[in-house]
Amino acid sequence: MIEYRNLRIALLGAGSVGSQVAALLLEHGDELAQRVGAGLELVGVAVRDPEKHRDSDIPFELFTTDAESLIVGADIVVEVMGGLSPARELITLAMTSGADVVTANKALLATHGPELFELAEQLGAQLYYEASVAAAIPIIRPLRESLAGDRIERIYGIVNGSTNYILDRMDADDLAAEDAQQIALELGYLEADPTLDVEGYDAAQKAAILASLAFHTTVPLESVHREGITNVTREQVRSAREAGFVVKLLAVCERLVDPTSGEEGVSVRVHPALVPRTHPLGAVHGGNNAVFLEAAAAGPLMFYGAGAGGLQTASAVLGDVVSAARRHVLGG
Ligand code: HSE
Repeated sequence: MIEYRNLRIALLGAGSVGSQVAALLLEHGDELAQRVGAGLELVGVAVRDPEKHRDSDIPFELFTTDAESLIVGADIVVEVMGGLSPARELITLAMTSGADVVTANKALLATHGPELFELAEQLGAQLYYEASVAAAIPIIRPLRESLAGDRIERIYGIVNGSTNYILDRMDADDLAAEDAQQIALELGYLEADPTLDVEGYDAAQKAAILASLAFHTTVPLESVHREGITNVTREQVRSAREAGFVVKLLAVCERLVDPTSGEEGVSVRVHPALVPRTHPLGAVHGGNNAVFLEAAAAGPLMFYGAGAGGLQTASAVLGDVVSAARRHVLGG
């Protein structure tokens, strides 16, 4: 039986992820309410231009341009607008107003994560970000919670779906890089600025987030070595194939020990790599992602699935919304 008051959810952004978050909340609200023990009420959707959303399935009266007023009355703020500003300021406002925050914003967390986490800690707010890395694949919560008692030595994997799609088409269909990229663009796999994907910025942001969590340290984005796929040619992919390898854009996060001083550090890098076709990462096709990690006690673990897509990312966002809502209910 639901006895708790309705929890007010403010959504910032109604792009491919935001519109799916709204749709899931509106369609499955009753079921989620049963799970949480409180109603989850979508009280507004902040966008730049509501007119652009007139044909959307979201009731038009929920749209507003006044993100600040929407945030101030909310229990949970979901930021899926992307970009650094005004996302940073709005998340700060949300936490200082007493709301918990759910974000999918990898660029923001990789750049301003430490400051936002510190603020959350000071205020006793929660900042959830499962959707920031590898979309639907649960990887943030396993690192934060399930593996919190273990020592992670190494994480490596494919964390960018669009470049994996491009390399996969070059490998499977012998396409030239430009042709494969054009198809990825048409399928909507690439970021609005495709440079973010093909030059490895997106993967570097995700690697910084994973490494910071896994190694309990701050990994600044500037310290991540980054090389994208723009220099990978069809001929290289072909030669790799003939030799039993496949070219993949890998994110690699490792602990390092300085042999002289014994001091511990981390190495985080993103670059194209030759992966044996027999390795499970060699079998990650299309826009999928896969993350391997090696933990001292748990041993090797692999996480695999859809790493991009509005609905898939919305699944991770909704999981965080339910966690935040449960915290409200349990905390009274
Ligand atoms: N452009 C990103 C990718 C979207 O291709 O993986 C998901 O973060």
